[in-house]
Amino acid sequence: MQIRLLVGAVTMLMMPVAGTAQSIAGSDPHPAVHLYAAEEYGIDPTAVTFTKDVAPILQRSCQECHRVDGGAPMPLTTFQEVRPWARSIKQRTAIRDRMGAMPPFYVEKDLGILEFKDDPSLSDEELATIQAWVDNGAPQGDPADMPPPLVFAKSDEWTIGEPDLVLRSREMVVPAIGPDRWGDIGLVPTGLTEDRYVKAVEVREFNDISDDAASGTVGGRYVFHHMTYSSGVLNEEGTGIVGDTRTRWPIHEVGRNADIFPEKFGTLLQANSALHLGASHIHSNGIQETTAHLEFGFIFHPKGYEPEYGNRAPVRLGNGTDIDVIPGRSGQEFHAFSVLEQHTKIVAFEPHLHAPGTRMCLEAIWGANHFTLSCVGYDHNWVRQYVYEDDAAPLLPKGTIMHVIGFLDTTAANENVADNRNWAGGGRRSVANMFIDLGYSVELTEEQFQTEMAERRAAMTSRNDYDVGCPLCWAPVLPEESTTTDGGAQP
Ligand code: HEC
Repeated sequence: MQIRLLVGAVTMLMMPVAGTAQSIAGSDPHPAVHLYAAEEYGIDPTAVTFTKDVAPILQRSCQECHRVDGGAPMPLTTFQEVRPWARSIKQRTAIRDRMGAMPPFYVEKDLGILEFKDDPSLSDEELATIQAWVDNGAPQGDPADMPPPLVFAKSDEWTIGEPDLVLRSREMVVPAIGPDRWGDIGLVPTGLTEDRYVKAVEVREFNDISDDAASGTVGGRYVFHHMTYSSGVLNEEGTGIVGDTRTRWPIHEVGRNADIFPEKFGTLLQANSALHLGASHIHSNGIQETTAHLEFGFIFHPKGYEPEYGNRAPVRLGNGTDIDVIPGRSGQEFHAFSVLEQHTKIVAFEPHLHAPGTRMCLEAIWGANHFTLSCVGYDHNWVRQYVYEDDAAPLLPKGTIMHVIGFLDTTAANENVADNRNWAGGGRRSVANMFIDLGYSVELTEEQFQTEMAERRAAMTSRNDYDVGCPLCWAPVLPEESTTTDGGAQP
């Protein structure tokens, strides 16, 4: 499996402080820590050591960031590096799915779909191991037990591998101190003479900020805060994109990982097309005048590849404008609904709130049934996308009502909020608000929908197996000639 390295995987604006035990309300940014007794997992707490038990956990879930050049504040590779952080590691990992949690992957594990791609989160048993180790004085153990060190791609390499096509944005000169700049930074012709389907895309910023620039923060290392872009066929004059040929690409944000699309639906870059860098947000780094550009690396499917499924069909759920955030209040909720007009497979969930955001849930309503697909914590220091495993992704019939819920806290408990005395409405800056699911989906034909459901059913071993994201999986299979899914009975 390809490891996705989150190079500088951070949108770190402030340092959240580890939570203290409090009641868990829907919006509480600082819930109780989750503690587990080692004995319940058959672990002898006094026998847990760094080299044998803890180092493998850190390798899998932490070192992609916590290593030299990894983007996190300190490396966690050797015992000497890790030991001073033992208590802090116990605390941050035990927060589990709320602001400040490590690793920053906030899926709540007690409801909804739990199978995600590249999930670095820790199991109850791993938490019990770390907790027993720390409580027992964080011993090193036998150096011979230490697993061999991991080898990582250098931070100046593409994490998707060598791209087939690299496109460059124009160079932007950004003053050391200045207002944020939004807007269109133009077209980048692809130069393609034939249609090609893209398997993976990665966006990287190149700039002239030196490594030893006087800031340890990610905000000091980059100026492109984000870039929303699309592509399509160039018009005859080469001055714009022909309207109905447009494809939207996943957003680029500082620290966001590369996108590797599911095998069945490559995304099209047409012959004679261009990228349209339609909405950039550029932020002065406060250190030096900076010259920067973005590079877009594309890996293609082989020539002749035809996607089984159509293009990405974003179910953009939420409300970007009509937002009313009350100062100094916890437990605020936003709700938005939309109806699926086609059978839909949801590929990824990407909660997007701003500083007051603490949690987002995605639900599907089908007939009298109300499914929670996912609830995840939210920390605006981090931009995370949650990609479902192919065989667990929500498989929803047309007519399903999608419901997304955002939870907000503007009390002093939420340290991401710069000034909690102010009312705030919708807007692009972090001090204004948003409420959207930036995740994406694919529309399925009736036949594709039935095929996917049949695969799910085949994997279910008894009638007690239940697929949370698939309300019709147990519905009686309809005879060939009747293909309507309306009114399918519930199990
Ligand atoms: C995707 C990158 C990433 C991963 C994975 C990750 N961290 Fe972090 N970690 C960070 C960043 C960035 C910070 C500083 C910002 C913050 O606190 O959110 C941080 C902060 C911390 C801190 C607090 C440091 C301080 O100054 O108090 C601890 C402890 C920590 N991480 C431990 C871990 C452990 C243990 C794991 C794995 C179980 C892990 N991290 C996984 C990026 C990561």
